[in-house]
Amino acid sequence: MKQSQSITVQNHRPHMHSIQNSTEGRPTLTISMDFQAPRASASAFAGAAVLFELAEEYGVFDYLREAPLMDAASMAAASGFSPVLMERYLRALTTAGLVETAAAEDGAGMTSLYRRSPIFNDMVNGTGYLSWSLRACGPLIDHAREYAADWERAANLYPRNGKLVARTSRWIGERSFYPQSEQAILALQPARIIDLGAGSAGLLIRCLSQMPKDTTGTAVDISPAACEHAREEIALAGLSDRISVICAPVQDVDAYRAQLEAADLVHAGFVLHDVLHEHPEGFHEVLRAARHATFLLVEAVPYVASDREKEFSAAFSFLHEAFMGLDLQTEAQWRGHFAGAGYEAVKIEPLGMPGARLIVARAAGQA
Ligand SMILES: C[S@@+](CC[C@H](N)C(=O)[O-])C[C@H]1O[C@@H](n2cnc3c(N)ncnc32)[C@H](O)[C@@H]1O
Repeated sequence: MKQSQSITVQNHRPHMHSIQNSTEGRPTLTISMDFQAPRASASAFAGAAVLFELAEEYGVFDYLREAPLMDAASMAAASGFSPVLMERYLRALTTAGLVETAAAEDGAGMTSLYRRSPIFNDMVNGTGYLSWSLRACGPLIDHAREYAADWERAANLYPRNGKLVARTSRWIGERSFYPQSEQAILALQPARIIDLGAGSAGLLIRCLSQMPKDTTGTAVDISPAACEHAREEIALAGLSDRISVICAPVQDVDAYRAQLEAADLVHAGFVLHDVLHEHPEGFHEVLRAARHATFLLVEAVPYVASDREKEFSAAFSFLHEAFMGLDLQTEAQWRGHFAGAGYEAVKIEPLGMPGARLIVARAAGQA
């Protein structure tokens, strides 16, 4: 089902976008956030999940994702496994409707070529939810009794696999929350962006690739591995002169204060609930120090009861509460944090991922 929400905010370079309306003399624009909810049946996603997870294990997922045309011989070369196995695997993908036969003829005889089907990306997105829940969170379910007795001890003994968490979150995010943040940033047209907890800087790379050449960005992340990956990806995208990476904890505002003060847009995706929990003073300092900018926050709120969101939101909230010791903040609590730091306008809209929200905050008197 296609869902549509809209959010109206003032952009930073009004001359670059159509101004849709105006309140109190301040130009504003409406960002519409369309998202597509996965529609296939549970058995369809179960089948797709097995096949896509195998693609990751065989090492051919990127090939499946990117190659304009696929064949068993190239997949065998990419995976190191036999062409016979890859032909069988492609037959399974074809029967599942995830790829389609593109051609079956070359000069020397019959060669089967394949291409992604129109539902490929939707099915990856749906698989993301299943794989995050049952594979990435598998250790929590497998050791639920140990987590129930002492979650901190169990988290040390039976941690989640960080790579699996990152990959399955990306499969969810590619359809269910990245496009909406990106759309909001492109509509706002900031000149300087800072992304807190930026991971491998995917959002900055996608946005800056589409923005004027004088737009610059800063990625801040605590993880040296994420920062290293971000630098590689930024270089690959040819954006090293426009995006810098600062490896620092978000709560240590002094480590990136100059970049924060220069930014007219601050983005933070799925990181500030953690900072609030572990470093409340640092969290409040971030909000205070960013008051001159538009703040775009992406977070999950707990236990949303709407028909579209209730099951995944309930599981996501309970896993955070009982297995990670984290109470997600409600919409009212986020409003309270921003109001307490001096912001006057806080708009909150649902994103594609059940329970996820885009929170746009602006301080009084902001240009
Ligand atoms: C759930 S991931 C989200 C990544 C990205 N914002 C996204 O939405 O895809 C959280 C990221 O925040 C980083 N992180 C967690 N705690 C942090 C902290 N205190 N300071 C800076 N980065 C932090 C992690 O290393 C990770 O890259």
